[in-house]
Amino acid sequence: MKNIVILISGRGSNMQALLEADIPCHIAAVISNRADAKGLEIARAQGIPTAILDHKDYADREHFDTALASLIDTFMPDVVVLAGFMRILGAAFVMRYMGRLVNIHPSLLPAYGGLHTHARVLQDGAKIHGCTVHFVTPDLDHGPIIIQAAVPVLSDDTEQTLAERVLHEEHRIYPQAISWLCSGQTELGSDGQIKLLHRKQPGFTLISPELE
Ligand code: GRF
Repeated sequence: MKNIVILISGRGSNMQALLEADIPCHIAAVISNRADAKGLEIARAQGIPTAILDHKDYADREHFDTALASLIDTFMPDVVVLAGFMRILGAAFVMRYMGRLVNIHPSLLPAYGGLHTHARVLQDGAKIHGCTVHFVTPDLDHGPIIIQAAVPVLSDDTEQTLAERVLHEEHRIYPQAISWLCSGQTELGSDGQIKLLHRKQPGFTLISPELE
């Protein structure tokens, strides 16, 4: 069974979704760069080993990344899962875990990389939004896409209601993506393309606003 390590910085709802899903893997540890991350309590309550590595204890990103990699490697993970980990990881770190490092982002990448995605979607008047699970590459929020979920943006949405709708889908697609990775149904090919054995295609179109 494959080992995974989950990195968080805060609430940890995606981590919780992974802990509660029936994924064919062993969750070896949850690591946070913040001691006050709520997700740590959830992990501890479920008996998952936790560790804290505060980025403020390191002079720069390079030193933090090196210490983080050393800590991660003590758990010998096959897959490293970023679940709301709010630190940018340097190229050396990313290359070390290439093909084993995945992230979830609250937008339909490659649109709306970066922060404040829901507010920016509302500001732009986009009618469809969503979330993406992707392999991490040195190019921030641009790695090969494993799975996405789309949701409509409703006319009365606030940043909060839109975030909740997207988060609901995050909690569905992240366990699926990690399950595929752990069961060997998806991988990052040496050509940088996703290999996905699961080929069931979606059977509908999301049109927003709805046709009359
Ligand atoms: C999620 O929206 C995720 O897509 C983004 O950060 C947020 C983390 O939320 N990367 P949580 O800590 O998993 O609840």
